[in-house]
Parts: sequence; C-alpha cells; structure tokens
Amino acid sequence: MTDRELSFLKEHFEGGSLDDAISRVEAGEPLAYVIGEWYFWDDTFKLNRACLIPRPDTEHLVEHGLKHIKPGDRIADLCCGSGCIGLSVLKHTRDTVCTFVDISEDALSMAKLNAESMGLSDRCRFICLDILKNRVEGDFDVILSNPPYIQSDVVSALEVTKHEPRIALDGGADGMDFYRVLVRDYDPGVMILEIGYDQKEDIEALCDCKVYNDYVGNPRVAVKMQNVK
Ligand SMILES: C[S@@+](CC[C@H](N)C(=O)[O-])C[C@H]1O[C@@H](n2cnc3c(N)ncnc32)[C@H](O)[C@@H]1O
Repeated sequence: MTDRELSFLKEHFEGGSLDDAISRVEAGEPLAYVIGEWYFWDDTFKLNRACLIPRPDTEHLVEHGLKHIKPGDRIADLCCGSGCIGLSVLKHTRDTVCTFVDISEDALSMAKLNAESMGLSDRCRFICLDILKNRVEGDFDVILSNPPYIQSDVVSALEVTKHEPRIALDGGADGMDFYRVLVRDYDPGVMILEIGYDQKEDIEALCDCKVYNDYVGNPRVAVKMQNVK
C-alpha cells in the first residue's frame, strides 16, 4: 500500500479495526469497498459489495445529462447501482424526479441510503427489476444508463474489476444485450448511454445516435434523441 493510500484509509475508515482494513487493502481489495464510500461528480456515495465502484468515466453521463434535462423532467437511471448518476443530476436540476432501477436489492439499498443522505428521497422512486425481462412502467423525458457492457468471455479475464460483481459488468456474448433492450423498450426524449471504448460502431449500427468522446479521445457516451413518429 502506498503512503497516500494509507493516509487516505486512516482519514476515511470508520468502525472496526484499522489493521484489518490495511490487510484487506494489501490483499488487493479496492479501497472504496474497505472504506464503504467513493467519490463521484461533486459528492460522496456509500457503497457495498453489490455496487460497482463509481468511475470518473461515468461522470460524462452526468455532464451530458445536465445539458439536456429541463426543470420538471421525469428521469430514469436504469442499472443504477449506488445511484451516483441519477442522484448527481437530481441534485443539480429543479423540480425533477428520478426512477432508479437495478436487479440487485443490495445495490438499490445503497441508492436509497445515498438519496436520504443527499436529502433527495422525496424526488426518487426505487424499483428492483430485471430490465432484460421487464419494461419499467412509466414515461420518461430522459433516460441515463451505465449498463453492464463487457463481453462475457472478457469479464473473467479482467484484473481491474475482479472484486466487483459480475452482474454489474457482463453485457452478454457481444456486450450489447442491454443496449438492444434499452433501444427496443424505451423511446424517451433523450437516452444517454455509457458505452465501452470499442462499441461506437456497434451502438451506431443499433440505433440513430450521436457518440461523444471522453477527454482522452475515446468514444464513451451515446446520446439518442426521440424517434419522431
Ligand atoms: C455497470 S454497473 C453501473 C452502476 C452505476 N450506475 C454506476 O455507474 O456506477 C451496472 C448495474 O446494472 C445492474 N444490473 C445488472 N443486470 C441487470 C438487469 N438485468 N436489470 C437491471 N439492472 C441490472 C447491476 O446490479 C449494476 O448495479
């Protein structure tokens, strides 16, 4: 463990034994799980082992979301995990409401806790649902989603995510299972999706969307505007 990690751990660790916490980090457990929270956008989000650790890459979804969301909009954060995306946009928009959906009750319990600590619970609805099998009821102005999008046979080989839940990462044989369902089942005013750096062509083949690069030039966000009938 680096000196920087150790001082960070000492500063943020609460409860239990610090020696145990140090051993966990030294054994390779991500610091975020050991301290039970991580930073995203302009806040701190509580986490448990059912949640993906929020990534800076995903902050691009918030950035694009804030460009499109209008006062009063009905938002959905599908595959919400800790709730970091939906809660960040709720915090910075007026009179908006957000439906948070995840297949994991344990992850959703953290999204609820985060909503409470940010004082946003009364603008949130939480639904535990498998979005591959069921459509979330309701109409939405803006859908934000960072779904699992890694190809099944790649997930097992990934070192960087080995402590995180497989269901948060596995997007099926070609990594596109969730995008196919999202595009088939929902037609909100705007749908904003995180994509893998190598999925630009696949998402453009699936739907009419505009793909944006992150700060290092990788295509990471797809924005799909409503199909006008
Ligand atoms: C890539 S993680 C994103 C979590 C969070 N939105 C973030 O950006 O940090 C994907 C999330 O999708 C959830 N998930 C996996 N399969 C699902 C399904 N079939 N229906 C709904 N949620 C699912 C996982 O539990 C996980 O929380």
